[in-house]
Amino acid sequence: MPRLRILPLDVIVEAPDGDTIMASANEAGLYWPTTCGGQGICTSCACSIDEGADSLEPMGRSEKRTLSEEMGEARVVAGRLRLACQTRMHGDVTVTKLGVRRAGASLLAID
Ligand code: FES
Repeated sequence: MPRLRILPLDVIVEAPDGDTIMASANEAGLYWPTTCGGQGICTSCACSIDEGADSLEPMGRSEKRTLSEEMGEARVVAGRLRLACQTRMHGDVTVTKLGVRRAGASLLAID
């Protein structure tokens, strides 16, 4: 079962093989920033892949087009930026995403 470490909150969640990064976090009770609700069109969920890129399914054309249009081709070519709602995991991954928090938690209540 893949393990997802999310920084800077520094939490680790386990997820079924093939789950997306965002779904894994949501199922563990975490809020992940989104505007489109996981449809792959807003880029609010975009995160940086720090470790485990080889454990991710390759970026599809739709994800690549959305990231390129909204965040610039150069950031996509660099290869570390992914849409968390579209990126499926098959092994351990570490990502950085600002704004992830325990669902329902006040920002002041986070350790
Ligand atoms: S949640 Fe909108 S693109 Fe991922």
